[in-house]
Amino acid sequence: MSKLFHIVTYGCQMNVHESEKIAGLLSELGYDSCDDIEKSDIVVFNTCCIRENAENHAYGNIGMLKKLKAANRDMIIAVGGCLTQQMNKAENLHEKFPYVDIIFGTHNLSKLKDYILEKRASKKPIIRIEEKEGEIVEGEKPLRTSYPNAWVNIMYGCNNFCSYCIVPYVRGRERSRRSENIIAEVKSLVAEGYREITLLGQNVNSYGNGTDDITFPELLEKIASIDGKFRIRFMTSHPKDFSEELARVMAGSDKICHCLHLPVQSGSDSILRAMNRRYTSADYLKKVEILKKYIPDCEITTDLIVGFPGETEEDFRATCDLVRKVNFSSAFTFVYSRRDGTKAATMPDQIPEEVSKRRIMELVDLVNAQTREHSARFVGEITEILCEDYDAKRGLYLGRNEYGRMGYFASDTDERGNFVNIKVTQANGVSLYGDKV
Ligand code: 5AD
Ligand code: SF4
Repeated sequence: MSKLFHIVTYGCQMNVHESEKIAGLLSELGYDSCDDIEKSDIVVFNTCCIRENAENHAYGNIGMLKKLKAANRDMIIAVGGCLTQQMNKAENLHEKFPYVDIIFGTHNLSKLKDYILEKRASKKPIIRIEEKEGEIVEGEKPLRTSYPNAWVNIMYGCNNFCSYCIVPYVRGRERSRRSENIIAEVKSLVAEGYREITLLGQNVNSYGNGTDDITFPELLEKIASIDGKFRIRFMTSHPKDFSEELARVMAGSDKICHCLHLPVQSGSDSILRAMNRRYTSADYLKKVEILKKYIPDCEITTDLIVGFPGETEEDFRATCDLVRKVNFSSAFTFVYSRRDGTKAATMPDQIPEEVSKRRIMELVDLVNAQTREHSARFVGEITEILCEDYDAKRGLYLGRNEYGRMGYFASDTDERGNFVNIKVTQANGVSLYGDKV
């Protein structure tokens, strides 16, 4: 019987794709994927530390494996990702959970195979964190799990040092993949039948900086010129680097989805300054205007943080005002989470929890109302869905339109991987329901 692995992933799309890479490495070692953690020979936790609750969630789940490991001494438990890469965290983790066999970081994911082989030969726990980001590894063979979508990294790391954010400390400095490698990967994915390519990077707009390679809009244009019917998405864009040229390129290709994730974080200029975001709310609104000039139907999504140190009621009102002005298609809303090692962690005037809670509830209500309104706009319209899956409970196929809205519909044939036009009959929060046309 073949050996089995199970991966638990926390955090963003970047981590989801990294788990696909981990799965690829494990399958090269002869392991098969398994949904049941109890039956698995290897369990990998791919962690996130962007907010405290993501970190606590991982600790809770690693803790729950103690009994399982006691019952099955041969099980290998590995913990990697952003959490372990933080200063001193690997040692703390080892003290707290001595039964964890392998602890690795974000910079040495590709060596996991070696660590597993080493672990199988010796009883000693393996704790390996590399301080510096190494060369970009090419030729990885991820075991992809999100057909018809495929994630493609275009760059790694972040140089922005937003004052609240731990990412630059755990993911290192920005480095971009060579464009020819990215283009070759996309070409082969499209040839394999993937219908949506999502380009990933912490700050895709600064792609190519520091190398003599092409810019992000140029890269997009080249990818859009690849033959075949497929969609292109990308994330994340930093507003300070979002250019008119990018808007022009987005408008010029029917492959590039008319939606943009443009995290604003706050609508208050003094908070934006303290966050080190390097734009004002007026700058942000200007970028939105440029985008809408080129692509009037472009949907914009965002990230918002409430309760940043020093955030006054007036600052919070400015955020709500900006949200009203932009009218987002949807938004991720977060309560500020203090991260050791960041600049904001040492700022005076940390906001009491009850204040942040009240603010986030108000903001969520505002954002949800906008989301519902944006969904309702599709009712009566025909929209093209890229079918991702079948929901057996509802007996409906589902997938997204180019604007990121999930659409459900019935069909007698297997539609997974197909582009399907539906006439929307009903909208419900973030979901649309319709009939195949
Ligand atoms: N607290 C709350 N939210 C955060 N984010 C990043 N760091 C923090 C933090 N310390 C949010 C930002 C970012 C998204 C990925 O996570 O909104 O855009
Ligand atoms: Fe964090 Fe800012 Fe970099 Fe985004 S741009 S990863 S929020 S430091």
